[in-house]
Amino acid sequence: MSQGRKVIVLTGANSGLGYETLKLLIQHSTPYHFILAVRNIPATEKAVLALTIPPQHKIEISKLDLSSFTSIKSFAQGLLTRDSTLPLNILILNAATIKSTFNSFISRIIFVNSSLHKQSEEHKNFESLDVKNLNDSKGYDGLLFYRHSKLVQMLFFNQLNKLLEREEKEKVSLIAIEPGFMPQTDLSRESAIYIKLLMKYILPLAPFARTPEQGGTVIVYASTSPELEKQSGLYINKCCKVDKASEDSYKEDLQKTWWNISCDLTGLLEKKLL
Ligand SMILES: NC(=O)c1ccc[n+]([C@@H]2O[C@H](COP(=O)([O-])OP(=O)(O)OC[C@H]3O[C@@H](n4cnc5c(N)ncnc54)[C@H](OP(=O)(O)O)[C@@H]3O)[C@@H](O)[C@H]2O)c1
Repeated sequence: MSQGRKVIVLTGANSGLGYETLKLLIQHSTPYHFILAVRNIPATEKAVLALTIPPQHKIEISKLDLSSFTSIKSFAQGLLTRDSTLPLNILILNAATIKSTFNSFISRIIFVNSSLHKQSEEHKNFESLDVKNLNDSKGYDGLLFYRHSKLVQMLFFNQLNKLLEREEKEKVSLIAIEPGFMPQTDLSRESAIYIKLLMKYILPLAPFARTPEQGGTVIVYASTSPELEKQSGLYINKCCKVDKASEDSYKEDLQKTWWNISCDLTGLLEKKLL
């Protein structure tokens, strides 16, 4: 705790789902010390200034670019050096995933996933995960890579959960969530103009579309609900119900393969599984 406040690290907090989650969490009477881990500090300062932060909370903005291992390591190192004064209670991996280790406290880690991670098995004509196409040598398709990145995240999640159950059972709890389809966030910012227009004006009217605020309620539930206390490895759907993730994400051979690829890419070779 930080002066009685629970410490929450929230990645990608300056827009979309992350920002909506922040807006919901500051309404809690429980005092929080937020560490907003973002790559664009001025945009985040602006977004925070637009909010009225109740006095029980504290907000800190910290640089984290998840596309740079140097930045990830420096951010994690910064947290670890403050461990005794600032133990991490809740880690919301909204923008991407980071690796961290923890000491003597319960920490909840939220993986923001998507139901799209199931699509390769739900639609047999969709390409399945291909270890040989990591560098797009067999062709790049943005949505396909996005779906696969979410499946890889679920494989990582399930593998990490097994390892933590063995080593850190009482200390860390992992929860994965799907927030539902929220066309109004900035997720399609690099898409063609017609997709952006579709997302902005047409798809929000679809009956299955959700607002970022509705999506944020799932993250808030996963982060703070007492019902999930001391439970780990759960996948929570957009209705805040425990659900099954994709069949593939529970396959041990796939988990191991992609865990080891992550170790190779991050240089954490000593963490590789035999
Ligand atoms: N929108 C949907 O329908 C939907 C559905 C299911 C799951 N999700 C998941 O929800 C999460 C939030 O997405 P969103 O829809 O809210 O999109 P968004 O509005 O684009 O927000 C994404 C956030 O991630 C940050 N980010 C992206 N790349 C980063 C990097 N390399 N380093 C640090 N921060 C980075 C962005 O920061 P910058 O402003 O600096 O770019 C932004 O704050 C994602 O995990 C997404 O996969 C979304």
